[in-house]
Amino acid sequence: MSFPFQISSREQYERDYQASIENPEKFWGEVASHFLWRKPWDKVLDWNFKEPRVEWFKGAKLNITENVIDRHLETRGEQPAIIWEPNNPDERTRVVTYNRLHKRVCQVAQMLTNLGVKKGDRVCIYMGMVPELAYAVLGCARIGAIHSVIFGGFSAQSIADRLEDTNSAYIITCDGGYRGSKDIPLKAVIDDALVGNKVVKKVIVYTRTRTPVSMIKGRDVWWEDEMEYAETQVEKDGIVSFPAVEMDAEDPLFILYTSGSTGKPKGVVHTIGGYMVWTAYTFVNVFQYREGDVYFCTADIGWITGHSYIVYGPLAVGAQSLMFEGIPTWPDAGRFWDIVDKYKVNIIYTAPTAIRSLMGFGSSPLAEKDLSSLRVLGSVGEPINEEAWHWYDENIGKSRCPIVDTWWQTETAGIMISTLAGITPSKPSWATLPLPGVEPVLVDEEGKVVTTPNEDGYFKGNLCIKTPWPGILRTTYGDHERCRTNYFATYPNLYFSGDGALKDKEGNYRITGRVDDVLNVSGHRIGTAEVENALNMHAGVIESAVVGYPHEVKGQGIYAYVIFEGKMANADLIRQDILQTVSRIIGPIAKPDKIQFVQGLPKTRSGKIMRRILRKIAEGETENLGDITTLLDPGVVEVIKNGKV
Ligand code: WTA
Repeated sequence: MSFPFQISSREQYERDYQASIENPEKFWGEVASHFLWRKPWDKVLDWNFKEPRVEWFKGAKLNITENVIDRHLETRGEQPAIIWEPNNPDERTRVVTYNRLHKRVCQVAQMLTNLGVKKGDRVCIYMGMVPELAYAVLGCARIGAIHSVIFGGFSAQSIADRLEDTNSAYIITCDGGYRGSKDIPLKAVIDDALVGNKVVKKVIVYTRTRTPVSMIKGRDVWWEDEMEYAETQVEKDGIVSFPAVEMDAEDPLFILYTSGSTGKPKGVVHTIGGYMVWTAYTFVNVFQYREGDVYFCTADIGWITGHSYIVYGPLAVGAQSLMFEGIPTWPDAGRFWDIVDKYKVNIIYTAPTAIRSLMGFGSSPLAEKDLSSLRVLGSVGEPINEEAWHWYDENIGKSRCPIVDTWWQTETAGIMISTLAGITPSKPSWATLPLPGVEPVLVDEEGKVVTTPNEDGYFKGNLCIKTPWPGILRTTYGDHERCRTNYFATYPNLYFSGDGALKDKEGNYRITGRVDDVLNVSGHRIGTAEVENALNMHAGVIESAVVGYPHEVKGQGIYAYVIFEGKMANADLIRQDILQTVSRIIGPIAKPDKIQFVQGLPKTRSGKIMRRILRKIAEGETENLGDITTLLDPGVVEVIKNGKV
């Protein structure tokens, strides 16, 4: 069976694409009619990029959890919704049916209500990859609370910043989390984040690792106790119910923080109706999900990929979504392939950094793994290099599975440019064609549309989108002006992605990477300014400059140039101290791979750091550093070059 809005041929793609651009209201109104609305919309789309203001399905009422859970109960109540594979392969797996998911989400909704959470309240979630994380997210959505999931790799300081920015009074966490051979003390990190916090009223703690935790009277409660009590309230005579709160299509669903070119992460806000339609539509069409498929997305729900393609998109169409607690290389580098074999996975969606790290182990982890169930391979998060693409194709897909290289962002909510598996052609390291509803345009620095190809026959420019799609971000939490200046002001009347791209004559896109000061380290977005702020917090650091450099596994590595004051008796120890500081301020994911101590940084006469030069040196370039005559002190470049680490 295919889904009502599933594209089933190349011709249909062309037709639907044209239709979506010529009359977006008609097109998306039709797609949206296949969802459950309590009240239909007054207008499909109203927008103005100047303000910016984008409203989809205005006036409509719904609850997203009725779409992702309730409406499936009659037809597929006993079908798995979430299949959970624990970190430790010897531990019992859990299969959560739609009926069970419904019950758990009703319980969470009741529990949150009991604890005082109301529609519109912000709830921060800091958990490992356990099914309870999905229940927590959906439980919030059921009562109209706005969830803000924080990835487990962020520090107490980062959590404190997000708590303050969202003014959250509620937290859901775990005692600890398992990741490979490590136990992460999640609750202890929350405790650190809460020192001095006067706003948080309740912390709900789910027991995962049974690590000792300090439970503060009146504030901290156990998930298990609260859920047990809630169960007595939501289940009567074997019938489970918790009435979903009616929401406006344009009410916020969640806030998810992401890095930009300034020192402070932004809280990207997505709203309910458009997000639901966009994630479901893109999920079905890109992966060509078929009834009964087992679909495995290896991302963490702490990032947008997990929100859209573990939880909301797949569940919206009644799919079976496999959720994995662990990491690809533990207990060994065959873990993903064991999972594929064990559950007969049909579709796998992972990141180039994972592929590259597994490539390094050669083909022995693949021996005796039956991968014949696989039909579609997906990639997300960063450009996939040709070598990794071919390895994925040959070793995992056995050259018979289409690869979908999906380009999108936290801000776009769902996939924007991608091959549709088996429908439109793949091209190694090219994301290829835009999804219906997406109108990309490449512009030069002045904002002029690029109309002449370069000597290789490609159009090259900064990637913008001309018109709104249902999943476009609506604002940045608490600071709409920041949303405007970040995304809608660089080029008037366009959404600017921050990425550079090439386009070939057939209209395929290849994403070349960020053109702003944002790094992509193992698929994690990290702002250079954020890392610099953290470095500068270290007592001895006077000034720093951070750039990216090509890294074999991570895609990009972090290279920091640091001016250090005082004695350097033991440079290695100081390096360790500085790394510890970055870990404290942002989290281990932002630790520089290389630190070079320097006496000075290349600056223009107006005091601007010439990052272009630092980037070239970090990349290992020694000759063509470009024009350095505008520097205040060109001599500094030579010294830095000689001290490269
Ligand atoms: C990069 C992740 C090339 C890009 C979904 C974008 C990609 C940033 C691809 C968003 C891809 C993501 N090819 N680059 N297929 N997918 N990117 O917000 O630079 O964590 O701007 O969203 O990742 O990262 P984010």
